[in-house]
Amino acid sequence: MQFRRIGRSDLLVSPLCLGGNVFGWSADEKASFAVLDAFAASGCNFIDTADVYSSWVPGNRGGESEAIIGAWMKARGNRARLVVTTKVGSDLGEGRKGLGAAYVAQAVEASLKRLQTDYIDLYLSHWEDPETPLEETLGAYARLIEAGKVRFIGNSNHSAATMREALAISARQGWPRFENLQTHYNLYDRAGYETELEDYCRQNEIGVTSYFSLAKGFLSGKYRSAADFTKSSARGGGMATYLDARGLAILDALDRVAKEKGASPAQVALAWLMARPGLVAPIASATSVAQVQDLVAATALVLSGEDIARLGAVSA
Ligand SMILES: NC(=O)c1ccc[n+]([C@@H]2O[C@H](COP(=O)([O-])OP(=O)(O)OC[C@H]3O[C@@H](n4cnc5c(N)ncnc54)[C@H](OP(=O)(O)O)[C@@H]3O)[C@@H](O)[C@H]2O)c1
Repeated sequence: MQFRRIGRSDLLVSPLCLGGNVFGWSADEKASFAVLDAFAASGCNFIDTADVYSSWVPGNRGGESEAIIGAWMKARGNRARLVVTTKVGSDLGEGRKGLGAAYVAQAVEASLKRLQTDYIDLYLSHWEDPETPLEETLGAYARLIEAGKVRFIGNSNHSAATMREALAISARQGWPRFENLQTHYNLYDRAGYETELEDYCRQNEIGVTSYFSLAKGFLSGKYRSAADFTKSSARGGGMATYLDARGLAILDALDRVAKEKGASPAQVALAWLMARPGLVAPIASATSVAQVQDLVAATALVLSGEDIARLGAVSA
């Protein structure tokens, strides 16, 4: 497997990142350990989580995903061979939110504790925080890197204008810069990234990771009509938005390429993202070993220029 560099950082990662928002939600600890084991056994090393996962589950408080990953790394003794991303800033309740320096300093300690590690490879601002000057957040990150608690930083869901401002501040202050943008991007949802962010990140060598890479499971092809929504109690209810003429045309093209390649639609959807210049790794989550084994096989799938053009045309 050919590893890829994130931006100008020293982080070398597998071309697939395992999403952690299912841990403590649609995958309990036992299922999560099995998914993580299968992912690591495939040779992949890149894992994504956030302090807020999976706080939306009744009874959860946030941090469940980090805690499961931390317990798993401890049990397997494999921390050093993994690249772990986590995020700060989402609302955890009781005033715990945002990107203020004092809060970031406190939040990182909580993430480190749950992850049972003394460093985070890649630490991201989860959302823009209009109430905190960028300079304050970047200064807080610079101190965390200086202290060895964080290796590199990035952001998710920031605009190109905000990243431009952030990179200018980092350059002016001599601070580490954002090396990663994590953004919503997949074969169905293209415009948000391709309009402006893609050019900006490529020009500035910011490595991109895509989330909802499978459109929450839709691009696996398991939802073809409303009757299929029961196939996932966690995700099925949200599938109606994708089931339009364009969504069905995308599934049709995925089916055709998948059949020619002896692959699955999910693998083709991920391989299409992996082939996109500037995109370091799609992030996808899995709730079972069978799913994760399906997904990691995408790292060995090479699409032809013709396949990419066909998928591109139908999803444009
Ligand atoms: N930065 C952000 O703001 C942000 C936002 C959202 C997500 N993320 C990150 O991105 C990751 C990926 O997003 P996501 O997990 O929400 O969506 P996704 O990767 O597009 O979809 C994953 C879901 O698809 C289903 N699936 C996976 N493999 C499959 C297969 N081989 N066959 C059939 N179904 C399959 C599973 O759900 P079922 O088993 O329930 O069907 C799985 O949980 C998250 O885990 C998180 O780390 C970041």
